[in-house]
Amino acid sequence: MNEKKVVVLGGGVLGTQIGLVCAYHGYDVTFWLRSESSIGRTTPKIERYSALMLEDLQKAKALIGNPMGAFYYPRGMISNWNEATAESIDALLENGRKYFKENVHIELDPKKAVEDAYIVIESMSEDPKAKIEVYEKFKDLLDEDTILVTNSSTLLPSMFASYTGRPEKYLSMHFANTIWKNNTAEIMGHEGTNKKYYDEAVAFAASIGMVPLQLHKEQPGYILNSMLVPFLSAAQGLWANGVSDPETIDLTWKLATSAPAGPFAILDIVGLETAYNINQMKPQSQVEGTIENKIGKLLKEKIDKGETGVNAGKGFYDYTKK
Ligand SMILES: NC(=O)c1ccc[n+]([C@@H]2O[C@H](COP(=O)([O-])OP(=O)(O)OC[C@H]3O[C@@H](n4cnc5c(N)ncnc54)[C@H](O)[C@@H]3O)[C@@H](O)[C@H]2O)c1
Repeated sequence: MNEKKVVVLGGGVLGTQIGLVCAYHGYDVTFWLRSESSIGRTTPKIERYSALMLEDLQKAKALIGNPMGAFYYPRGMISNWNEATAESIDALLENGRKYFKENVHIELDPKKAVEDAYIVIESMSEDPKAKIEVYEKFKDLLDEDTILVTNSSTLLPSMFASYTGRPEKYLSMHFANTIWKNNTAEIMGHEGTNKKYYDEAVAFAASIGMVPLQLHKEQPGYILNSMLVPFLSAAQGLWANGVSDPETIDLTWKLATSAPAGPFAILDIVGLETAYNINQMKPQSQVEGTIENKIGKLLKEKIDKGETGVNAGKGFYDYTKK
């Protein structure tokens, strides 16, 4: 067992970010991908996200001494912000460049990929069938003590534990998009997860610059989405019911709570397609005249106009304006 070896299954948006953050913190990272064509899709992501991470680190130098700096620096990349200097960030930049170059590997062969791994992080598409297939493929290839975690946002570890061949060493470790800045790791076991491995997962998350947020039992949506989804639904309900408009709803939230963003600005970041998909999963959204149905129609109108959020340049707000 190599305590420095991390394997990421899946080289998508989150998988790439997770692997790079581990490499940045000195782990030796192997991405297991299923085909040559996956390599063609993952390599540009590795390049893009490593450049973004280094760019954010570089920009952090200008935030030193600025009282707002504590809100904007890449929290997953700098552990002691209060003592950071331009020189200490330069040293981190140099290490980061070196580690991205030396510590990141891609492997197609499943056996070679996971050999000696300390931890395997599954971050494949949110498709239960694909996840089960992969767990079954790997179950006899992992070392006795390898910990296996899933980054699934909506699926519970108890759904998969029996396919992993190591239920006691299997749990969820849920990251947020742009993890080098939004450095949360929600750690959630299932009933059969052994505390020893749960605690190891917590320590591992901290060692890659995350703040481990511990759940004591299974909860669909973890902590964050259990709060965020109803909050965003309530805001959309006020809008769809004609009670108020997105700007006023956001302003109310920001003024009253000192929060930097209101629900509609958050929806623009999440993306309106995701909000629409969540809405469509509610049975009431299919019943004419319900508030969920109205929300679905309004979101669909915006999506059809291409107003899907920050990534599209326009959502509830216009991001093309300077
Ligand atoms: N995108 C987010 O904001 C976000 C945030 C937190 C957690 N997650 C979770 O992370 C996981 C991955 O999400 P993502 O956004 O990176 O998805 P993505 O679509 O960007 O990437 C999915 C990856 O899985 C690979 N894959 C799919 N089926 C496979 C199979 N059968 N065998 C091998 N590889 C396969 C794809 O090639 C791709 O590399 C999901 O479980 C998701 O719920 C996503």
